[in-house]
Amino acid sequence: MRKCKLCEKEAMVFFRSHRIALCKDCIKTFVERRVERTIRSYKLMSKGERILVAVSGGKDSLVLWQILTNLGYEADGMFIDLGIPEFSEVSWEKCEKIAQKLSRKLFKVKLEDYFGTNLINIAKIERREPCAFCGMVKRYIMNQRAISEGYQVVATGHHLDDETSVLLGNVLNWQVDYLRRQGPNLEESDGFVRKVKPLALCSEDEIKSYAEASEIDHVEGSCPLSKGATSHFYKSIINQIEERMPGTKLRFYKEFLKAKKEIFMENKSVKLMPCSRCGYPTTAGICAFCRLIDRVKTRIQLFQERTQFGEEP
Ligand code: AMP
Ligand code: FES
Ligand code: ZN
Repeated sequence: MRKCKLCEKEAMVFFRSHRIALCKDCIKTFVERRVERTIRSYKLMSKGERILVAVSGGKDSLVLWQILTNLGYEADGMFIDLGIPEFSEVSWEKCEKIAQKLSRKLFKVKLEDYFGTNLINIAKIERREPCAFCGMVKRYIMNQRAISEGYQVVATGHHLDDETSVLLGNVLNWQVDYLRRQGPNLEESDGFVRKVKPLALCSEDEIKSYAEASEIDHVEGSCPLSKGATSHFYKSIINQIEERMPGTKLRFYKEFLKAKKEIFMENKSVKLMPCSRCGYPTTAGICAFCRLIDRVKTRIQLFQERTQFGEEP
């Protein structure tokens, strides 16, 4: 029987990358300390700020909400209802449950209120996979609602596995602009609130263990529409490397953050201007979100006109 390194009770897990065995109680302490250190090292937020946690109903964002609350931060939740049958409803229930437990405010924003339809229909209209634009749509809504509700920071549940798989993709494709902006802290700028990822140095396994130890009820698995997404493939590659060489994931990410400062010393980032329609910062005249709304609404109108005149849609 392995003993907990911190208290000598029976261990529940062994984290290979840290070579540490921990019991149920000490898992919580260990992960919370890591999050606290991440917040401090990258200056993510401070105690007096109003924080909005983007909660999906999955373990990562719910664990994040629990930890921030335990650490004494003023964090409310926001759920974006993408209108995915069954999945969105169950996800919402999980968010509501933890909001009650934490006694914090929870907002729900419906995609339908923006587009007049759900993510699946938008994907059909766009003839693209939903995941090709779900991230952009979620980021827009989070930012807009945070500003309108008076929050200074948006926190997401992205963890080390998310960050390293994105990093791998960005490196493989040499996405220099994405690399420049990748990190746990995306500072506020005109039209954007600060966006932070306090779980960026915690692996998915560590978060899973925390969720179990804290009995956090959450939806299992990832979004049903994300099947086949490249990010899943990158994650499995990174985890194969981690399996052979424990600690690689954390080193890959932390060393990138250090190296980034030197590589991108010259500030040549793209110029952003407000969207002429909604004011969101964009490189084009009208932002990608407003352009998507236009395309979706035109298609819906066309569809309605055709069915009205008895034509085949
Ligand atoms: P994912 O890309 O699904 O791994 O999600 C990454 C992070 O985005 C989650 O940890 C949440 O913080 C946030 N997020 C994802 N989906 C939603 C949603 N439907 N509503 C609010 N936040 C979300
Ligand atoms: Fe992209 Fe669900 S459609 S995560
Ligand atoms: Zn212990």
